[in-house]
Amino acid sequence: MSDQPTRFPSREGSAYGRPPAQSNKLLTEVGPGTPCGELLRRYWHPIAASKSVTDLPRKVKVLGEELVLFRDAKGRAGLLYPRCMHRGTSLFYGKIEAEGIRCCYHGWLFDVQGRCLEQPCELERGRHRDAARQPWYPVEERYGLVFAYLGPLEKKPVLPLYDNLENLAPDQEMWCTVSGFGSTGDDSLDVVPYSWLQMNDNVMDPFHVHVLHSTFSGVQFHEQFSLLPQVDFFYADHGVCYSAVRQLEGGREVDRISSWLMPNIMSVPDIRFKEGQSDGVSWVVPVDDSHYVQAFVMKMPKGAGGFALTLNGKTWGTMTEEEHQRFPGDFEAQAGQGPISLHSEEHLVTSDRGIMLQRKLLEKQIEVVAQGGDPVGVCFDPAKAVVKVRSGNFYRAARAAG
Ligand code: FES
Ligand SMILES: [Fe+2]
Repeated sequence: MSDQPTRFPSREGSAYGRPPAQSNKLLTEVGPGTPCGELLRRYWHPIAASKSVTDLPRKVKVLGEELVLFRDAKGRAGLLYPRCMHRGTSLFYGKIEAEGIRCCYHGWLFDVQGRCLEQPCELERGRHRDAARQPWYPVEERYGLVFAYLGPLEKKPVLPLYDNLENLAPDQEMWCTVSGFGSTGDDSLDVVPYSWLQMNDNVMDPFHVHVLHSTFSGVQFHEQFSLLPQVDFFYADHGVCYSAVRQLEGGREVDRISSWLMPNIMSVPDIRFKEGQSDGVSWVVPVDDSHYVQAFVMKMPKGAGGFALTLNGKTWGTMTEEEHQRFPGDFEAQAGQGPISLHSEEHLVTSDRGIMLQRKLLEKQIEVVAQGGDPVGVCFDPAKAVVKVRSGNFYRAARAAG
């Protein structure tokens, strides 16, 4: 007789005896050496707002790696492995100087690329200091964000430009945040406590906007979302798009095009249905397997100073537990899937086609990287660094039915 308890197959959907559930590890594990982690390491990721990077070093965690981010007195941002290569104390306690960061313990000085410039307790301030290198990662700044590249240096792509973020009008300024804003609509979370894939899935899910944000919890964004759209999903550029067409009164229709670009980049059209190309781009950046931050950058009227969404009249951070239950938004729906969703229990249907296309593309590109190739969407030619963003709300006369 086996010592194993007998498992009876589920009858009539009883919860008893259901198979053990599993997450999709291929798409949710982001640490060094994991297949998805290696894919993600081929792209630039925004890790902080430029203005938050000062002469006070700060801890950042990205793709499962703990790092220290600072700005030297000449204004250059640096991203270093935090354990000092001498005897391992943290550069979080380092002091900023003109040329870099000085370790608090024995004063080794490192520049923003990890070069050791000084070892003050050694002869001639370190005869062999040139042989020392603190592990570092490249950073570049654009649109008010600090972008980091955590992959192999010989595969470092150019940092893309996005056509909808270029050419600020005189009455506009760039607004950005790196936080939980994308899931809560306010600034109450610095880090979101669930897998990056859950927010990544969400962007190619136009149907949840109809239910969660319009009919279940009341109108959270705009009443036009309560019209069920006719949706078409398609591969485009380096990712997936959807077109969601809603019939309006007066013989007009609006085509809301949203796009997701490999591997974690999205541009959602204005949620007030403002006409024209989307004014923003965002990135879902994994902190580790079960946390992420979302970086948003958006053109705004000068002096607007950002904004916060309200759910049933209150910002997310001021809602009671009961209000979170009665008026759930993106955070509740996605956190409700668990820290890392149990993908083996999913039942994907026709309306999930966008998510299926996204995951398929991610899986395919993971394989490309594993085989030694370059994934789609990375570009090594500065002349081709501009990415066209298709997203927007496009109004037109309604097309004849049939
Ligand atoms: S531990 Fe950093 S200089 Fe000694
Ligand atoms: Fe949403």
